[in-house]
Amino acid sequence: MQNTVNFIKEKTHNFQPEIGIILGSGLGELADEYCDYAIPYTQIPHFVQSTVQGHKGRLVFADISGKKVVMMQGRNHFYEGHTMQEITYPVKVMKALGVKTLILTNAAGAVNESFKPADLMIITDHINFMGANPLTGTNDNTMGERFPDMSEVYKKHLIDLAKKCAGDLNIDIKEGVYWANSGPSYETPAEIKMVRKLGGDAVGMSTVPEAIVANYCSLNVLGISCITNAASSDSGKKLSHEEVIEAAANAKTKFKSLILEILKKI
Ligand code: HPA
Repeated sequence: MQNTVNFIKEKTHNFQPEIGIILGSGLGELADEYCDYAIPYTQIPHFVQSTVQGHKGRLVFADISGKKVVMMQGRNHFYEGHTMQEITYPVKVMKALGVKTLILTNAAGAVNESFKPADLMIITDHINFMGANPLTGTNDNTMGERFPDMSEVYKKHLIDLAKKCAGDLNIDIKEGVYWANSGPSYETPAEIKMVRKLGGDAVGMSTVPEAIVANYCSLNVLGISCITNAASSDSGKKLSHEEVIEAAANAKTKFKSLILEILKKI
C-alpha cells in the first residue's frame, strides 16, 4: 500500500483527493473531460489491469466543480478472474490518499418493470449474490472491523443530496436495490424472476465488492446505476455488451450533469 500511495503521490505532485468516483461501462467520459493527471493501471504498483472493452483502465485526478476528485476510468471485475481482494484494492488506495466520499457508478439491467433504458437509479441498498466477499481472509484492524455493520452502506444524506440535484436538473430519477451477480453471463429469465421476487430492482456484475470495502473502511458511499437494458425475461430479445455500452452512451449527458451537480453541492 505504501508503495502504491507513494508512486501515485509522486506522479500527481501530491494531489489530495477528497472524493473518489468509479466510472462504470460507457460512463467514463467525465474523466476524458476533466483530467489533470492520468495514470494507467498498468503502471501503478499492485493494480490489476482491466480487460473489458469499453473500460479504459486509468486513474484520473482532477479539480471538478471546486472539488478534488480521483476517478477510476474503468474498473476491474470479479468475472475477469481477479480476486475480490484485487478488484477492491483501489478503494483502499483511495482511502489512503485521503478520500472521504466514494461515488460508485455502473451499467445495470432493469428488473423493476417501471424502469427503462437510460434511466438513472440511485442505489438505496444492495444484495450480494456474487458468492464471495472481499473481506474474507485475515483482517487488518487498522482499516476496519472484522464484522462490519452494513445497515447504511449507501448513506441517506447522499441519497437525499442526489435526489435534490436530480430534481434541480429536472432529471427523472429512480431509486432501488442493486443486485450483484458474478457474471460474466447475463441472467436467464428464471434468474430475473427470482431477483424480482427477492427484492432486486436492477442487476449487474460490479459495485457491491467496492461498496463492501468502502463501508468497511468508513467511506461515505453513493451509488448510481445507469439502466441500460430490460433484464432478459422482459425484452424478448437477446442482450449484448454492445447494447449495454450504447445505452450508457445515450444516458451519458444526463449522467454527467448529475455527477457535476452532486460534486458542486456535496
Ligand atoms: N445483467 C447483468 N449485468 C448487466 C446488465 C444485465 O442485464 N446490464 C448491464 N450490466
